[in-house]
Amino acid sequence: MIPGDGVGAEVVAAGREVLDALAAGSGGGLAFDWQEFDWGSDYYARTGRMMAANGLEALTGFDAIYFGAVGWPSVPDHVSLWGLRLAICQNFDQWANVRPVRFLPGVRSPLRKADEANLDWVVVRENSEGEYTGFGGRNFTGRGPGSEVAVQSAVFTEAGCERVMRFAFELARTRSRRKVSSVTKSNAQQYGMVLWDDVFRRVADEYPDVETESVLVDAMAAKFVLRPEDLSVVVASNLHADILSDLGSALAGSLGLAASANLNPERRYPSMFEPVHGSAPDIAGLGIANPIGAVGSAALMLEHLGLPAEAARLNRAIETVTATGVLTRDLGGTASTKDVTKALIDALE
Ligand code: NAI
Ligand code: MG
Repeated sequence: MIPGDGVGAEVVAAGREVLDALAAGSGGGLAFDWQEFDWGSDYYARTGRMMAANGLEALTGFDAIYFGAVGWPSVPDHVSLWGLRLAICQNFDQWANVRPVRFLPGVRSPLRKADEANLDWVVVRENSEGEYTGFGGRNFTGRGPGSEVAVQSAVFTEAGCERVMRFAFELARTRSRRKVSSVTKSNAQQYGMVLWDDVFRRVADEYPDVETESVLVDAMAAKFVLRPEDLSVVVASNLHADILSDLGSALAGSLGLAASANLNPERRYPSMFEPVHGSAPDIAGLGIANPIGAVGSAALMLEHLGLPAEAARLNRAIETVTATGVLTRDLGGTASTKDVTKALIDALE
């Protein structure tokens, strides 16, 4: 477990409590052996590093990583993100980032449609390359003030596109609506995104039983709001899916609800499970962070570990708690993180 910064630490502590309660009620069938790493922005203040020098080595042997969030006003965001979360995602080749958008009973969506339609879709984010490859540079400061130049390159590889698209199609086959929507911007980005489209068409040919569509990212943003009932699996590049998944969780009611799995599907490295939200400095330390995104991420972790029944128990507990109106402030309620955690534990069947 890497609690990290701000509310990240608060919500994974809650998630750990819920998981331990699940294990305690399993009659010995399930147990967790936790080890906690104190990496993050405080660690950076002490050591000048976001994680231990041998941090990746220390993590390699674990079955899974349960992650809070990283980022704090005391450290530039690109330093904290690249020093910890992206260091783990990239080095452990966690190339598929699965982010379900779930609408929960008792939670009001800003989307009027949510009352009528049964909405539920999942964003599959290419998590290893694209716009977050980290290639580029800054130069020309020597030319004097106002003359600096920065290049940030996006890298799309055929192999990278293909594996995440295949993953999306396989996922679509497990869902009631067998459909994959590809998010693109090939009208404006004629190299990377055109390769993305070409690979999508090629992979789609191998899945004739799965419906497909290709939608420009700006139009997809509108579609999330206007025709979300038409979505099942949405596959998108690193940046596009990053943005769209925050939109999805906001539509479902709050960023505090959204869960995420950074998967290394080949299982050569541990996968990492974290809420979609960040460290929320604006509410950190107040005890009011919504733990549901972190607990939903724990459910994704259990699924990955081959424990679908236990994952389903967690997800049912989440639904029971929201349906009975135990809601944190971001959802219009008055419950604290502790109240929701306790309610979740009580709701475990
Ligand atoms: P954020 O997700 O931390 O917060 C955005 C808004 O959502 C805030 O109003 C916050 O109060 C609310 N919110 C977030 N989580 C919540 C929860 N569990 N319960 C209730 N409300 C919640 O995004 P922001 O403010 O853009 O970034 C803050 C820091 O987090 C930055 O340093 C950023 O780099 C980092 N960050 C880290 C991520 C990660 O580690 N995976 C992901 C996103 C941001
Ligand atoms: Mg994000």
